[in-house]
Amino acid sequence: MAVPERVLTNAELERMVDTSDEWIVTRSGIRERRIAAPEESLSSFAVPAAERALAMAGMTGAQVDLVICATVTPDTPFPATSNVIQDAIGAARAASFDLSAGCTGFIYALGVAEQFLESGWAKTALVVGGEVLSKIVDWTDRGTCVLFGDGAGAVVLAAQQEEDGRGILATALHTDGSLGDLITLPGGGSKHPPSPALYDSGLAFIRMKGSETFKIAVRSLAEVSDEVLTRCGIAHEEVAWFIPHQANRRIIEAVGQRLEIRPGHTFVNIERYGNTSAASIPIALDELNRAGMIAAGDILLFSAFGAGLTWGASVVRW
Ligand code: ACO
Repeated sequence: MAVPERVLTNAELERMVDTSDEWIVTRSGIRERRIAAPEESLSSFAVPAAERALAMAGMTGAQVDLVICATVTPDTPFPATSNVIQDAIGAARAASFDLSAGCTGFIYALGVAEQFLESGWAKTALVVGGEVLSKIVDWTDRGTCVLFGDGAGAVVLAAQQEEDGRGILATALHTDGSLGDLITLPGGGSKHPPSPALYDSGLAFIRMKGSETFKIAVRSLAEVSDEVLTRCGIAHEEVAWFIPHQANRRIIEAVGQRLEIRPGHTFVNIERYGNTSAASIPIALDELNRAGMIAAGDILLFSAFGAGLTWGASVVRW
């Protein structure tokens, strides 16, 4: 993982919009988030995260066949930020592309990479989830600006037959495009192209219907988590770590209860990073792993929900 140095606290937000530390903590669980500097962009975090993942895997960029960067905040609409990563790590033979699935982006990218590996098209894939949401947040909208943060995380996947059954055991991906207006960035594309008027209209910033999203999030995260566990025949109590997308502590707790995840086996770090969208699961995974809290053979359950609407889950034997 790699995150900006700058920490933005709830106390600072109290001075920016009509909010309070108490409201933000009780409604979302967030205490602080990392915010990119003006000169930083997605690749400022995605590239170091990719380099650290490769170093951890004992590999070089030259061995990578595929680079997928899950994001809704690329450096530029094109070229893709995955291409910036491909160049920076020296992955000369790799294909690369960005993938847009909101907060479910990392799960989608894992699922896509899995297909490339299983088909034999690629032997090694680098999957990065990263966002610089601070640059598309309306800092006068208290309903959204307190929630989001910046950062990136990365994993290296390799196609190999593991006798002990390690690897991705099941993946589920879903979309309901009819609910796309619940979380949207309306402007900046071909519908409302960049123009001075766009910024005055407010269309260039995230819009979210928070409470409607909340209810659907709890239901779909629980359902999709059940779906993947059932598909690979893993019982809920076998989950060593439930690593959900970090959008809201209350959502995570409600889903954990519905799934009957064992107490103390759900990983939450939202208090320090806020909602980093496609980056939240790989950041959480890296924190757990570096803390030595994941043992070989542990069952990990990832599940996420976000703009699109999209939702998905994966089960991994570590
Ligand atoms: N400070 C103080 N008051 C606030 C703030 C704030 N920052 N924001 C909203 N309020 C007010 C509202 O105006 C409202 O006031 P009213 O009752 O007078 O109208 C009141 O607080 C309650 O607002 P709700 O939106 O109903 O609050 P809720 O308990 O639902 O919490 C939240 C809001 C935290 C946004 C929650 O709904 C949530 O987490 N939703 C899900 C978000 C999510 O999962 N997004 C998906 C991923 S995003 C992506 O893909 C990029």
